[in-house]
Amino acid sequence: MPTPTNVKRVCILTGGGDAPGLNPVLRAFTKQATALGLEVYGSEDGFEGLVDGRVHALGPGDVRGILPRGGSVLGCSNRGNPFAFPVKNDAGETELLDRSDVVRKRLKDLAIDVLVLVGGDGTMAIGLKFEELGIPVVGVPKTIDNDLDTTDFTFGLDTAVGNATWAIDNLHATAESHDRVMILELMGRHAGWISLCAGIAGGADVILIPEIHYDVDRVAAKIRERSESGTTFSIVVVGEGACPIGEQVSTIEAKVGHAPRLAGAGVRLKALLETRVDMDIRVTVLGHLQRGGTPSAFDRLLGTRFGVRAAQLCAEGRTGRLVVLRGTTMRSVPLAEACAKPKLVPPDGELVGAARAVGIELGAAPDPAH
Ligand code: F6P
Repeated sequence: MPTPTNVKRVCILTGGGDAPGLNPVLRAFTKQATALGLEVYGSEDGFEGLVDGRVHALGPGDVRGILPRGGSVLGCSNRGNPFAFPVKNDAGETELLDRSDVVRKRLKDLAIDVLVLVGGDGTMAIGLKFEELGIPVVGVPKTIDNDLDTTDFTFGLDTAVGNATWAIDNLHATAESHDRVMILELMGRHAGWISLCAGIAGGADVILIPEIHYDVDRVAAKIRERSESGTTFSIVVVGEGACPIGEQVSTIEAKVGHAPRLAGAGVRLKALLETRVDMDIRVTVLGHLQRGGTPSAFDRLLGTRFGVRAAQLCAEGRTGRLVVLRGTTMRSVPLAEACAKPKLVPPDGELVGAARAVGIELGAAPDPAH
C-alpha cells in the first residue's frame, strides 16, 4: 500500500518524438493514479501545452481504447524546451527564450503537485532543471533508440525492431530477384540497438552501427565473396549514426532549437560501394515507418507497467525518480542517473559476438583483446 502523502493532483506529458507504447503508458498511468485517489491532468504536445495553456483533466474515460494505438493521444513535441523555448521575434527570426517561469506559474495555478514526464534523455534533462526549481518530477523512459543507461529496455524499441525486421524480410525477396545490394538505413541516432537487433532478426549480411566505425573495403569484400560463391544479392543494414573510419556522422542542418538531424548514412555508403562493387545498389530509408503503427505486445506490456509504477511513485510521494526495468523487475532510480550517460551497444559484447558468429559483417574486425 502506498504511504499517504499530500500529493493530490498530477500532470503528465509525452516529450520528444513519439514512440510506440506512449498510449499504453498514458492509459495505465491515468487508471492507476485515479484509482489511488489522484486527479490527473495532461499537457498537450509535450511542454508546449504547459507554456501556452493547453492542459486538461484526464480521466479513465479519456484513455479508453487507446492501448493498441501508436503515437500519443496527448501529442508530442521536441521543440518545446521551456528553458530554451523557440519564439519568433519582430524580424521573423526564431529566438530561444526561457519560459520556465510560465510553466511554474501554470503548475501553481492548477495546483499540480507532481509533473510526470514520459520521454528520453532530453526530456529528463529538462525534468532535472524543474526539480532544481522545486517542482517534483517523476520520469518514465521512452525512446525507440533504447539509449537510456538506467533501464534494460525502453518501450518503443521492440516495435521499431519488428517494423525494421519486416522491412528486411521484404527487401530480401526483391534483392534476390534482381541480384542487387539493398541498403536499409535505420534510426537510432548514436546507438545501434535498432540496427543490430533488426539486422540479426532479419538475417542481414552486413550491419553497420555507430559504435563500430566501418571499413568500406570489408563491406565490399563481404558482398563480393557472397557473389562469387553464388549468392548474388546482399542486405546491408546501416544505422543513421554509422560512419566510415575517420569520418563524421552524416547530418542535415537543424532548425534553431532542434538537435542536428541524422540523415544520409545510406546514400553515403552507396557512393562508397559503387566504386568497389560491380552490382546494382539501392537505398531504402525506413524513416518514421519504424516508429509508427500499433505498439507490439511487449511495448504495450512495458508501457503499462511503467505507467502503473509511475502513478504509484506519485501517490507515495517518491519524486525525483525515473521508473526503470531491471531484468524482469520494475524499479526506480534517481532522475539524475537517467541523463548521466547514454547506453550504447558494447562493440565487443555478446550481441555483436552473436552477429559475428552467424557470419554477419560488422565493418571492422573484433578487438583481439576481447
Ligand atoms: O530519438 C528517436 C528518433 O526516432 C531517432 O531515432 C531519430 O534520429 C529521430 O528521433 C528523428 O527525429 P524526428 O522525428 O524529429 O525527425
